[in-house]
Amino acid sequence: MAKLEAASDVDLYVGSSAISREELLRRVKGVDAIVCLLTEPIDAAVLDAAGPQLKIVANVAVGYNNIDVPACRSRGVAVTNTPDVLTNACADFTWGLILAITRRLSEGERVVRAGKWGGWALDYMLGMELRGKQLGLVGVGRIGAAVADKAPAFGMRVAYTDQRAADIPNSTQMPLDRLLSTSDIVSLHVPMTPETRHLIDQKALTKMKRSAYLINTSRGPVVDEAALAWALKERLIAGAALDVYEKEPEIHAGLMSLENVLLIPHLASGTTETRTAMADLAVTNAIAVMNGKPPVTPVP
Ligand code: GLV
Repeated sequence: MAKLEAASDVDLYVGSSAISREELLRRVKGVDAIVCLLTEPIDAAVLDAAGPQLKIVANVAVGYNNIDVPACRSRGVAVTNTPDVLTNACADFTWGLILAITRRLSEGERVVRAGKWGGWALDYMLGMELRGKQLGLVGVGRIGAAVADKAPAFGMRVAYTDQRAADIPNSTQMPLDRLLSTSDIVSLHVPMTPETRHLIDQKALTKMKRSAYLINTSRGPVVDEAALAWALKERLIAGAALDVYEKEPEIHAGLMSLENVLLIPHLASGTTETRTAMADLAVTNAIAVMNGKPPVTPVP
């Protein structure tokens, strides 16, 4: 805020939840830059409400599916995101989810807090060991590659779908179908695009091993939540750990009552260090473009 305030007048929205559409349309009028969050859909209507002087939409997120990029481009408005600064936090978090769901941490804690733990037993609440298992990465951009980097520490081999990611050590590239049917953990790291919408649907879920786990830290709509709730209930897969949802902050009712799913409120980049760096990068982009300079991290 201090950097922005030194560079321009600032209209700051403060609220306990995302700005309403109506308020957004009203408050963007006449601005040169919009610094926004992934909770704000920035479409043609918002750009038109802002006006022709608008120069940049700076998203405080690496994913930018909330922004209509072609509509920005056709109006000469730059679009930026916050890559790199969150890669490590998201990769650490993905491993957190993998460990938590395979070792039933959340489920165990619920039992303890409910006062229902009867004490140690040899066969009580057993999970799955990671060593010797296959981690299947669907999408290997920066975050997927950083997740792969940590796999040797857990003794896991890596499979991935992305044909461009040829330099991941000790790993095998394979088509999605084979990755789904051979992996013990399937972790999603694709951006949200029309092609990746419901990439993990009923058909994909039935290809997975019954003993396998699905991890989603990408975007909710990459997974068909209704199909996932069904697959988890029918025990077609062992479990899922989700950080993102189709209609955040709503959670599909079918998921809420299941024990074999870990439900986290979109926290993958949520460290003080990373969120500060994300905000700083978005502000740097906004100030650069308002001063007629090129943005640091334009979206591809
Ligand atoms: C968070 O989901 C992000 O895209 O940065």
